[in-house]
Amino acid sequence: MPHRTNSRAIFQDSCQVIPGGVNSPTRAFPGLDMTPLIAARGEGAVVWDADGHAYIDYCCSWGALILGHCHPAVVEAATEQMRLGAGFGMATPPELAIAQKICQHLPSIEKVRFVSSGTEATMSAIRLARGYTGKDKIVKFDGHYHGHSDGLLVRSGSAVVQINLEASSKGVPADFVRHTVCLPFNDLETARNFIRSHDDIAGVILEPVAGNMGLVPADPDFLAMLREETEKKGIVLIFDEVISGFRIGLQGAQGHYQITPDLTCLGKIIGAGFPAAAFGGKASIMNQLAPLGEVYQAGTLSGHPVAMRAGLAALEQLEEPGFYEKLEAKTTYLVEALRQMMHDNKITGCVNQLGSMFTPFFGAFEVRNKITLDQQLYCKFFKQLFQQGIYMAPSPYEANFISSAHTDEQLERTRQACLDLSF
Ligand SMILES: Cc1ncc(COP(=O)(O)O)c(C=O)c1O
Repeated sequence: MPHRTNSRAIFQDSCQVIPGGVNSPTRAFPGLDMTPLIAARGEGAVVWDADGHAYIDYCCSWGALILGHCHPAVVEAATEQMRLGAGFGMATPPELAIAQKICQHLPSIEKVRFVSSGTEATMSAIRLARGYTGKDKIVKFDGHYHGHSDGLLVRSGSAVVQINLEASSKGVPADFVRHTVCLPFNDLETARNFIRSHDDIAGVILEPVAGNMGLVPADPDFLAMLREETEKKGIVLIFDEVISGFRIGLQGAQGHYQITPDLTCLGKIIGAGFPAAAFGGKASIMNQLAPLGEVYQAGTLSGHPVAMRAGLAALEQLEEPGFYEKLEAKTTYLVEALRQMMHDNKITGCVNQLGSMFTPFFGAFEVRNKITLDQQLYCKFFKQLFQQGIYMAPSPYEANFISSAHTDEQLERTRQACLDLSF
């Protein structure tokens, strides 16, 4: 980039009034030692920064924008709703329409409640699982991220003997995470033994397609075991599909693996870029929520009509026959080049892909769990592409996303840039 004067100035000024200059840590490009991208506008698969430089965007608002930026159907729906009123604090027709659409595509969801963020969705699902079972313990997995609520921010342990109950953030009292247990992901024996030997577990929560340690899909056997063992013991199985919902396919990861969870958390795509998320599942569990039951959960902006209209418009686009097949083909095309690039540069690395999500991993030939990656190599990878107007995830521990707006020309340019990288 010839100059990033405005971006630098905006970031420096932001640092004066916003901690770290950002409202979510990864946006500050930690570990990259450079001024972050300051987005001015987006269209299709392109983002322009505050200096007018264009970048092909593989972040897509962390997966929310499966149709790319400013898809006309989404813009029209949101604009129309703005004219009718931005919010009421009352029930509205768009909430019903999108709820029906979600229940239609995800048969495990008989009833659904909307919230404003993925953090709220998982936090509320956990409370519901506890209220429903009358038990306290929650099992989560190493490297899985479920938002920033106290009870789910637990440092990962790498084996059951090392289960670490210490919170992974200052400000979270040890008492608050006393009931959260972190187990190694994709380790069938450890998780099975743990579930079998404990009778105080309310819920097991996981990302069936983990996207927060780079992309790491669950082994099918692992998920099948979790379903079997939790069912036997009346434990609520919660799929956190905030990323994978409507990303892996219309039926999300649960459709891909053919496994029916008790509760599902959704976010990102269902809000089409607006703050919307949801949790839903079996009616017998969902009916424990207030006003029907005694598990309290609420939100002034929940089911926000602009987000609901935008989300519904997006979901309708995804129903187009062949939508997901096309996305996957585009992704595979790019992933092949990334694999070639790793091979040509003799890099110890691999690329994980599922559908339209992918992560190039630097530092391991196989990634099935959370591992420490080579930040230096990733930095070189990211910066060389950034220089050429290609924006991949600004951290080695994140997934990249392809949208339906990515054109063949943009993919070809990215592919070539990847093949030309040197380390
Ligand atoms: C799987 C998963 N769950 C929950 C969350 C939290 O969502 P939010 O950032 O909307 O609070 C995220 C965020 O990236 C996520 O990836």
